[in-house]
Amino acid sequence: MLVLGIESSCDETGAAIIKDGRYVLANVVASQTEIHERYGGVVPEVASRQQLAAVLPVIETALQQAHCCWEDIDAVAATYGPGLAGSLLVGLTVGKSLALARDLPFLGVNHLEAHIYANWLRLAPDADLQIDASEAESAYLPGDPLFPLICLVVSGAHSELVLMRDHTDYLLLGRTRDDAAGEAFDKVARILGLGYPGGPAIQQAARLAEEELRQQRLPVRNPYRLPRAWLRGTYDFSFSGLKTAMLHLAEGLVADQQPGRPLPSGGRQVSRYTAMGSEAAKRGQVHIGLLAAGFQEAIVDVLAVKTRMAAQEYHVRQVLLAGGVAANVALRARLEEELTPLGVQLQYPPIAFCTDNAAMVAAAAFFHLLRGERHDLDLDVEPNLSLPFRQE
Ligand code: KG4
Ligand code: ZN
Repeated sequence: MLVLGIESSCDETGAAIIKDGRYVLANVVASQTEIHERYGGVVPEVASRQQLAAVLPVIETALQQAHCCWEDIDAVAATYGPGLAGSLLVGLTVGKSLALARDLPFLGVNHLEAHIYANWLRLAPDADLQIDASEAESAYLPGDPLFPLICLVVSGAHSELVLMRDHTDYLLLGRTRDDAAGEAFDKVARILGLGYPGGPAIQQAARLAEEELRQQRLPVRNPYRLPRAWLRGTYDFSFSGLKTAMLHLAEGLVADQQPGRPLPSGGRQVSRYTAMGSEAAKRGQVHIGLLAAGFQEAIVDVLAVKTRMAAQEYHVRQVLLAGGVAANVALRARLEEELTPLGVQLQYPPIAFCTDNAAMVAAAAFFHLLRGERHDLDLDVEPNLSLPFRQE
């Protein structure tokens, strides 16, 4: 089964062609990061207009890349929520129109479910796993993630710990009570003057600062120990206290050095170090990098420990990472450290499939389509959609 997937929930426009829910024949993403960078975050109105300009060229490129024509496509899938209403409308409307025009089945996809199903993707048909044609359209293949499993969904707007006993079966174990993990990365990057998107910027600043210390043969010991909200007895998270602590530390750092420019967030921009002499600038940047590293360590610590506890309680053999923050190298390493001694395997998508893309949308759609599920063409966008949690 070949599914054309379309993703337009925020500031990325994606189209992909996926075979049997797993094999990536084409995956094209047009990113607007450069446009939103100058505003320090996504401007919804700008994002939806960019989506409109990008969506058809992206779909055409995906068809070309996969060497496919319309006759080869078996179904169309598009994200219908959660996300920015204006952006979602573009991909959903185009997806439904294409399905209507080509008389194909249509499925609206939950963006969070799509992030989880990125873990089923394989870049090329696996030579070792030659699959019988009769088995290809199966929900369970060798090499797929194994149920039951724990999934840590960490994106720009969501942080959830979920138990999956089977396909599309989600039991909510815990969620953030305030900021999402990605949101915390973005806000703290802004406080530190590191730019947008915050996650990759913080990861890089932390790495550069640690490298600088190593080069100077100084001990790589972080002087910044940030607070962790453990919320004991629950699998819930809270990151807003950590963000406030960062704000105070950053302000202190500025007061020690030189006044910074106030930010709309009420924080201070400490990146003005770059305007100083090169030695002072370097020292300043190392401090910012160490602050970034301290923050990253605190957030990763809580996510990894809670995920390990859930894996132990529910006796799973696998943990999946999903969402943009799954691209974080420190999170992956810290989780491996927690899970490997227990014999629990950690799985995460390649970086390009962690952040928003349409391959994951088509993959998630496949498992619904297999069961004969379809959506009518009057399906609307749902900006606040959550995962369809089971009630227990
Ligand atoms: O899943 P995603 O692309 O979009 C949403 O569905 O929200 O996630 C975007 C989030 C942003 O907050 C971004 O800062 C974060 O993922 N992110 C990272 C990294 N790459 C992206 N966070 C930490 N480390 C990264 N390497
Ligand atoms: Zn996303």
